[in-house]
Amino acid sequence: MAIAELSDVDLADPDRFVEAVPYDMLALLRREDPVHWQEEPDGSGFWAVMKYADIKAVHMDWETYSSERGGTSLQELTGEQLEQRKSMIDTDPPRHKKLRSLINTNFNPNAVKGHEQAVRALISEITDRALELQEMEFVSEVSAELPMAVFAEMLGAPQEDRRYLVDLGDRILGTDDPELVDPEELRKNRHLPFSSPAAGEMFEYGRALAEQRRREPRDDIVTSLVQAELDGQPLTQREFDTFFLLLATAGNETTRHTISHGLLALHDHPEQLARLKEEPELIPRATEEILRWATPVMHFRRTATRDVELGGKQIREGDKVVTWLISGNRDEDVFENPDTFDVGRRPNRHQTFGPGGVHFCIGAGLARMEIRLMFEELVPRIGSIELTGKPERLRSNFFNAIKRLPVRITPA
Ligand code: HEM
Repeated sequence: MAIAELSDVDLADPDRFVEAVPYDMLALLRREDPVHWQEEPDGSGFWAVMKYADIKAVHMDWETYSSERGGTSLQELTGEQLEQRKSMIDTDPPRHKKLRSLINTNFNPNAVKGHEQAVRALISEITDRALELQEMEFVSEVSAELPMAVFAEMLGAPQEDRRYLVDLGDRILGTDDPELVDPEELRKNRHLPFSSPAAGEMFEYGRALAEQRRREPRDDIVTSLVQAELDGQPLTQREFDTFFLLLATAGNETTRHTISHGLLALHDHPEQLARLKEEPELIPRATEEILRWATPVMHFRRTATRDVELGGKQIREGDKVVTWLISGNRDEDVFENPDTFDVGRRPNRHQTFGPGGVHFCIGAGLARMEIRLMFEELVPRIGSIELTGKPERLRSNFFNAIKRLPVRITPA
């Protein structure tokens, strides 16, 4: 649907994101109403923050824009539901800092570097298999394989369980897509993260793993969590459950969708693929451009803790404030030709991992490495990419996600 005026705008309807991201709608808002009040059919409405600088201002000021007061998703929950579901990402400092410090060392640059060789080997296996097939559904054969294989290793989950974990993650996060989730189930499970019964299964899985690590500690994240002490106390069962679920889901879908969008972008822009083949030293910059282009998490939510002005609008205490990272990443005031996919783009300070602040993605270094290594391996081996069917997108206004990407890749 063509968007000509503000009355056509609807950011709350996932159907508007099924065919493609409505970039024209986002651009209209940046131009005409950059802090926009959006009504919701099943909620109180929210402020949609569309400009790069305003998005950054919100994320840097956690005291005014709380993650804890209403959580980070659009859904409105009772205090009790929030308390049952909340993980580190829905917690404000000072508690947030303590939780984050429990796993910081697992994600620091040295720790990430330590996984490089193993990740490279995994990618090599995945791409060998895929290129032998030539014709494939790229998401299941390539993009979905890597992040969970890497993360199963870091969590300490057996590799043979990774398909099961991927499937649980899909069901947990696909909340608005009838192919993945039954809306009736959602209504019954509002006490669980994403209102998903699959979250209950993920908790069970994490508890069983924790039990094993208590008996046999190892150098992995689950062991760090079962041995953790906060203010002299171990994590409560709920804290462990939600931490485990956050970690098992946060890096999986996001990295997967970035890889799928990256391949699709190289298909849609064959001259950029040719350039990368000629100048492979551009791959680190291409990684950043793929991340900007993909923006797999389209928005995050905060709740105002006081009356405050933003972009000339009066925000009231308790209002939902939603930062559209995917719009910030196309902001004309920051990016030259923002709608051009340019593998050599520099500077490229995209907001894909968040614009900074206390919740900046803890897995950014790991994700960057996985994506860079994947395209380092793929690009020289691709002769051409052809779509053998239409890419299918997730019905969601939260994830910019490709469910299926049927392709033929002719080897170089
Ligand atoms: C391309 C891949 C990824 C994208 C696009 C992404 C995106 C994001 C975003 C936008 C945030 C919130 C930032 C904010 O509120 O300021 C975030 C937080 C987070 N991410 Fe990622 N992420 C990715 C990969 C990963 C990976 C591989 C992990 C590792 C498991 C991970 C774990 C987390 C965690 C635990 C948080 C919460 C941090 C906190 O509350 O302090 N992410 N991510």
